Amino acid sequence: MKIAVLYGGTSKEREVSLSTGKGIIQALKKLNHDVIGIDFNPRDLNHTMEHIQDVDLVFIGLHGKQGEDGTVQGLLELMGIPYIGSGVLASSLAMDKSKAKQIFYMQGIPVAKGKTYGNHELQKYIIDDIKNEFELPFVIKPNQEGSTLGLSIVNDQEEIERAVQTAFKHDFEILVEEYVKGRELTCAVIGKQGGEYSLPVIEIIPKSEFYDYESKYSQGGSEHICPANISEELTKQIQEYAVKAHRSLGCETYSRVDFILNDQNEPIILEVNTLPGMTPTSLYPDAAKAVQMTYEEMLEKFIKLTLE
Ligand code: DAL
Ligand code: MG
Repeated sequence: MKIAVLYGGTSKEREVSLSTGKGIIQALKKLNHDVIGIDFNPRDLNHTMEHIQDVDLVFIGLHGKQGEDGTVQGLLELMGIPYIGSGVLASSLAMDKSKAKQIFYMQGIPVAKGKTYGNHELQKYIIDDIKNEFELPFVIKPNQEGSTLGLSIVNDQEEIERAVQTAFKHDFEILVEEYVKGRELTCAVIGKQGGEYSLPVIEIIPKSEFYDYESKYSQGGSEHICPANISEELTKQIQEYAVKAHRSLGCETYSRVDFILNDQNEPIILEVNTLPGMTPTSLYPDAAKAVQMTYEEMLEKFIKLTLE
């Protein structure tokens, strides 16, 4: 089969995507597919469009804006080329953490208390409002960004201004959330719409204070325990929430849903990743491994689910 892999891109997660793309391209070649890798440049769409005219399928190995957020999916829809993964709406909803949280909340999935601010609002108003609304510590992050980029944990009111400015460097909207301190868990979802199921839950044990960019992508930066050492009941609940979250946004084929356990042992949903990392240190392939599915078999399964 002739498959194009879009990777790289121009988002802040470019480096991660280069690694994801490399992993996907190597595996598809091993499976004897005719693979073309395209370092996606949104400012040179003609290049991409020329190279994908005659492919059977596109694998989007991009992360972040202009890749994971529905825009590239829209281009492929217009071109009538099948692609693996979520469509336009699900992708953009998942990328918008605040809107996605509203949907999760309506589905009865526990979310952290949060509030969104836009860069049209006066910084002084934002800072005062945060002080009124949130008790320390809390998290300030860009509303639409991945890999914990631009995220700060605020422990002192003096840090608010810098954290707000840092988050606004990544997005025109920022999300402030109560800081849920606890075990980090994630659950991969796979399957055709309506027939999705979850893979074993993974616990992430970062070597640093929390699961930041460094611990996500450096070899040995974090330890993945799969299946997570939690009760059967909690495992079931997380798996149920993961599938519910995936379905509530209308995701397709695969996604990875991140949670944090609060001090009541309640799983709080953080987000759904519609194009989760597929790097050598990534979580999704580890979850597949736990059910004896190799990286190659996992990709074959995605292809089958997309084309059947
Ligand atoms: N945003 C990164 C790629 C992930 O969630 O895996
Ligand atoms: Mg993410």
